[in-house]
Amino acid sequence: MSKPSICVVGGGFVGLTTAIVLAQHGHPVSLVEASPERRSALAAAKVPFFEPGLAEALATELAQGRLTIASDPTKALATSEIVFLCVGTPSGADGSVDLTFVERAAGDVGRALRDRAGYQVVVVKSTVPPGTLEDVVVPAIARASGKPPGDAWGAASNPEFLKEGAALRDAQEPDRIVVGATDARAEAAMRALYADAKCPQVFSNPRTAEMIKYTANSFLAVKIAFANEMANLSEKVGVDWYDVVAGIGPDPRIGPHFLRPGVGFGGSCFPKDLAAIQHVGREAATPLTLVDAALHHNEVQPLRVVEMLKEELGELRGKRIALLGLAFKPDTDDVRETRALPIWRALRERGAEVVCHDPMAMETFRTLAPEASFAKTVEEALRGADAAVLQTEWAEYRALTPAQIASWMHAAVLVDGRRCFEREAFDGTRVRYRAVGLGR
Ligand code: UDX
Repeated sequence: MSKPSICVVGGGFVGLTTAIVLAQHGHPVSLVEASPERRSALAAAKVPFFEPGLAEALATELAQGRLTIASDPTKALATSEIVFLCVGTPSGADGSVDLTFVERAAGDVGRALRDRAGYQVVVVKSTVPPGTLEDVVVPAIARASGKPPGDAWGAASNPEFLKEGAALRDAQEPDRIVVGATDARAEAAMRALYADAKCPQVFSNPRTAEMIKYTANSFLAVKIAFANEMANLSEKVGVDWYDVVAGIGPDPRIGPHFLRPGVGFGGSCFPKDLAAIQHVGREAATPLTLVDAALHHNEVQPLRVVEMLKEELGELRGKRIALLGLAFKPDTDDVRETRALPIWRALRERGAEVVCHDPMAMETFRTLAPEASFAKTVEEALRGADAAVLQTEWAEYRALTPAQIASWMHAAVLVDGRRCFEREAFDGTRVRYRAVGLGR
């Protein structure tokens, strides 16, 4: 039996990954991308951002002919049985989600539905506030198509839980699939789409599916902020936070994951989604005090490394500090909400000379901090430095040896913002090793 044809709208991180994985599952997939530059890049198997394995997988699916980059969006929409909306949802200054692209895409879907015979399911993968599918997307499609949902089309929310750097694997082997459909027919189509998936599948209504996405990200972000707060205290009372995690992790109600201490969370999801759900909470007269606290904590936490530097070096004015790692996490050039930026700013405000390095994210960081100075190699960044702050746990940094650090640096103070190293590795060397949540 041939697999349903799919149209994915939006060739960004989520849309591209979704399109590739559906093609790998044997669906004929067409990808609609609004930007002509991005369209030609994708058609030539070039991925305009770094995500491990994605360019290779795109090349394979294009070559096999299972995935095509659509040159005629209306035709691609009209000839597909399932449409995934994976368009961007920028943030407003108050944290609210700008639904312009979602509404526009829904209008395009509706117009393509006008003369279409047969049934289509429209699936929203973009992260949108609870109620968006029912209150915004469904009415926009109905208006543009002149057809009410039901016989000709149905809709579903199907949030993604992809991590940058592991997007393909997360999409190929999800730990759960969440779907909230508008009616039984749309739900049946989604059940059939995911019939072979081995993971738990949660079917509910669209609002619930939308709320699940925000709750997952809020919980994870609160968990990190909590870990950081307790790690800060552990350090002050002379306890290693990882020894605490070893003691709490076996409790299945707590678990050992996502308790890694450091300089806080960055990226395109946690800060943005927490601000968005905070906005939803304000509108619903239900302020989210724990989410507020997590976001506040995340602004303060990067300054822990500055305090550590002051404890080790005293006055920071005129000191040369290597800032290692600019990406918000390893294996990406993404610097959105990277904690490197507040650290860089705080060090500069205190008069330090900051030399930045990242294996992949120097160009992207330059767009955030045009006055930043960069070193071409990690050795160049460390040579003659008074201290180094490790902000991203790149493999290249983890491979540094105490001997290298000691020989290259002037005063060998290493502040490990991601707990990359074992403290014992520096015993008997001249490196003064500090890390978040490291006891005495
Ligand atoms: C996150 C969610 O994990 C994913 O499910 C969702 O779909 C999108 O948002 P991502 O932003 O790609 O994914 O990265 P993630 O690996 O979750 O890390 C986010 C930030 O938290 C990084 O800055 C990371 O360094 C930090 N973090 C993560 C910690 O500080 N401690 C941890 O224990 C885990």
